[in-house]
Amino acid sequence: MSGTSFSQSMFTELCERMLRLCKLQPGESLVLLSQGQERAEYVDAFLTAGQRLGASVMHLRLPYSSSATMGEVGVWTVGKTPLAGNQPAIDVLKRADMVVETLFLLFSDELTEIQAAGTRILTCIEPVDVLARLFPTDELRLRTDAAVEALTAARTLRFTNRAGTDVTYRIGYPVKAQYGYVDQPGQWDHWPSGGMVLTCGADDGIDGRVVVDRGDILLPFKQYVHDPIEFVIESGRIVRIGGDGFQAELIRQYIEDFDDPDAYGLSHIGWGLDERAKWAALATDSRGHGMELRAFSGNVLFSTGPNDLVGGPNHTGCHLDIPMRGCDLFLDEEPIIVEGEVVVDAMRPAG
Ligand code: FE2
Repeated sequence: MSGTSFSQSMFTELCERMLRLCKLQPGESLVLLSQGQERAEYVDAFLTAGQRLGASVMHLRLPYSSSATMGEVGVWTVGKTPLAGNQPAIDVLKRADMVVETLFLLFSDELTEIQAAGTRILTCIEPVDVLARLFPTDELRLRTDAAVEALTAARTLRFTNRAGTDVTYRIGYPVKAQYGYVDQPGQWDHWPSGGMVLTCGADDGIDGRVVVDRGDILLPFKQYVHDPIEFVIESGRIVRIGGDGFQAELIRQYIEDFDDPDAYGLSHIGWGLDERAKWAALATDSRGHGMELRAFSGNVLFSTGPNDLVGGPNHTGCHLDIPMRGCDLFLDEEPIIVEGEVVVDAMRPAG
């Protein structure tokens, strides 16, 4: 386990705890999905853990064909996976009770197809020490459920910040939560991502402006923002990206390079609840996919691009996730987050 203080046996223990949380039963089938040589130690740990629980385990290894999750070196477009066009492999996954995947299938048609067959799927790509530190808890699940309830009952979500953000989403799609584990047929989740709730605005129902402030985070770039970046949004589309700094220029160019009108759509909107996750983590650790940065308590996670994850029509491969600090967030005028602090008791850790 290079680069971590975790031995393979400790990691296997951790994976066993995870599979118990996912209610993997004796006799159920568990398939590990990987590509090339990538994350071989993850595969081994889960194979052993699944075997210990009495499941029928196997490993489906695809030829290496995507660098989508290799944030240091690779591209990070979403929705195009090494499974595309490989129906025999997809069929194996659809027949499984549970899949642990190390490719990052989110936003892909293949993920939707496998879920529809009733297979529960867990994505596991983050560094092992992050998996351990942000291991899901029942307590965080309860708080997440409180957030789901509030968001499900709301018709509008509005958020503001000191930099000038004031945007309103007319909620147009179902609410999703991420708990960091999967215990229901057809469920997808990503370990670790406890305490995230999200939905999407109606296709023409998002208006206002989002001014990403200094210290907010640009993903997948893995950068703290140096100078404010303004997204002007009309009827669910980004119509202008303002800002003098190089990062505004970078975002303008990055999106333009997709040569896709849907790249100017809006993706999920929601917030994080995990007080163990740290905003400052990126300052010293740029490994992995950045789930810690999406999950920290009180961040408003603003995102651009596809909305097919909630059943919407936008399938673009251009996706930015932008955790924002210090925001006020309201559901139907009711404050949920004030200056970056979650203010609803049911969503806050006890004490
Ligand atoms: Fe996202």
